[in-house]
Amino acid sequence: MATIMHPYDPTEVQAETNPLLQYFMRHSGPVIHKWVDYFDVYHRTFQRFRGKPIKFLEIGVQNGGSAHMWREYFGPQATIIGVDIDPACKALENDGFEIWIGDQADPDFWENFLRVHPQFDIVLDDGGHTMEQQIVTFESLFPALVDGGVYLCEDTHTSYFPMHGGGLRKPGTFHEYVKELVDRMHAWYHAPIAAVAEASYAAKNLYAMTVFDSIVVMEKRLKNMPVALARGYQSHTPVPLALTFLDTRRLFGVPDEGSEPQG
Ligand SMILES: C[S@@+](CC[C@H](N)C(=O)[O-])C[C@H]1O[C@@H](n2cnc3c(N)ncnc32)[C@H](O)[C@@H]1O
Repeated sequence: MATIMHPYDPTEVQAETNPLLQYFMRHSGPVIHKWVDYFDVYHRTFQRFRGKPIKFLEIGVQNGGSAHMWREYFGPQATIIGVDIDPACKALENDGFEIWIGDQADPDFWENFLRVHPQFDIVLDDGGHTMEQQIVTFESLFPALVDGGVYLCEDTHTSYFPMHGGGLRKPGTFHEYVKELVDRMHAWYHAPIAAVAEASYAAKNLYAMTVFDSIVVMEKRLKNMPVALARGYQSHTPVPLALTFLDTRRLFGVPDEGSEPQG
């Protein structure tokens, strides 16, 4: 007879150390529906913001269960704003949350929104999860993050779901977009030399991307042009005391007329 794996039990594994999971396990208010592994990703990503006067935006409010969870987790100093396409979500304003009604796939909606709220510490996309929604929302809101802010897009397994516009390695999915961002982060090392002078936005602002199962976290941090320095005494293999990325790309044969211009 085949062995049935015991289902992952969050109460045993993490609940003692993860306040979000503790909140979830004892929750009896408006429904929160989450993949259990998300709580670990949330906590490791967001814990440094707890108790601080941050601005937090959640796309996808639904019944408001998660908004209450974030209030408890981040504390009273946090400003929590929600966006949803469903006008019924406005009711959550009675609980002290600011709620905007709009379509996250509409860049004009974000343009108006950002006029009122130009900066956030954290953006969490738990909206409709289609490819267009995830990409438009990221492109509209990542620039609005503060230096040191984080962007978290969840349910990215929809990149493989036909009903969301997904499919394995299908052009235009969020995960294909993320793979492209890896190249754009590294524009210093491959873009045409003329474009490198500007470098790509991602090369200068996207400090790190962490890909979890079904979640991608993007950290924003303004970055300097890459420089390698040598310290210590030189022995049998002398190395240059300083190398910029320009020296390095030439040293390793990257042509000045490199590949794609990067945005
Ligand atoms: C998964 S639910 C959010 C759950 C909520 N974050 C929670 O954990 O309690 C997704 C929400 O996204 C909203 N949504 C779907 N398409 C949207 C769109 N195009 N723009 C904004 N919100 C959208 C839905 O109305 C729904 O309330």
